[in-house]
Amino acid sequence: MKVVLALAASVDGKITKWDDIQNVQEWTSREDKQFFSSMIKKSDVMIMGSGTYQAVKKNLNFDLPILRLVLTKTPEKYKEDEKPGQLEFINSTPKELIDAITKLNPNQVLLAAGSRLSSQFLMDGLIDEFYLTIEPKIFGTGKPMFEDRILDINLKLVSIKKMNERGTLLIHYKKIV
Ligand SMILES: NC(=O)c1ccc[n+]([C@@H]2O[C@H](COP(=O)([O-])OP(=O)(O)OC[C@H]3O[C@@H](n4cnc5c(N)ncnc54)[C@H](OP(=O)(O)O)[C@@H]3O)[C@@H](O)[C@H]2O)c1
Repeated sequence: MKVVLALAASVDGKITKWDDIQNVQEWTSREDKQFFSSMIKKSDVMIMGSGTYQAVKKNLNFDLPILRLVLTKTPEKYKEDEKPGQLEFINSTPKELIDAITKLNPNQVLLAAGSRLSSQFLMDGLIDEFYLTIEPKIFGTGKPMFEDRILDINLKLVSIKKMNERGTLLIHYKKIV
């Protein structure tokens, strides 16, 4: 099983445009959307934080055979949204969650989280690979890729691909252990 983080960011490292938390898909390229769809199709489980869930819930496609797990300290708030086996809300630490998912023996787990949860997964050493899409845009302000905290993660570049004429880059890293 591998745990893969996939993020799209501006050149200045913002994962939201200004303070608009809803519309990530509004500024990402068609090629990044295609890439992200292909990652969902390759994954058995997708983990989100409740912040990301709130931003993307209108666009979730339940035709795909993937289990989406949303981490929240208050799962009871989301009882009406729950779809067992497809969309579940869990109060857990990242480590406990990954231990539980390991027992399901999935091939790939996709982490599609915002700054808070991504930073925690990195801190706990739970991410094996990182796909970073850099869109050729600068926002100046917005949510950062990771929280402002001390991290010391060593990565190795696997590949870098220019995805379109404007120069959207897809950078694939592996964690060095
Ligand atoms: N550009 C991109 O690729 C990309 C990708 C993902 C998200 N985003 C954007 O990022 C924004 C959301 O970022 P975010 O940092 O607020 O959200 P997040 O990391 O997805 O979710 C954070 C929330 O998850 C809950 N949570 C539950 N267990 C937790 C745990 N162990 N550790 C940390 N959090 C836990 C907490 O909410 P409770 O109060 O529910 O407990 C916390 O506030 C959205 O605007 C989204 O569009 C962008």
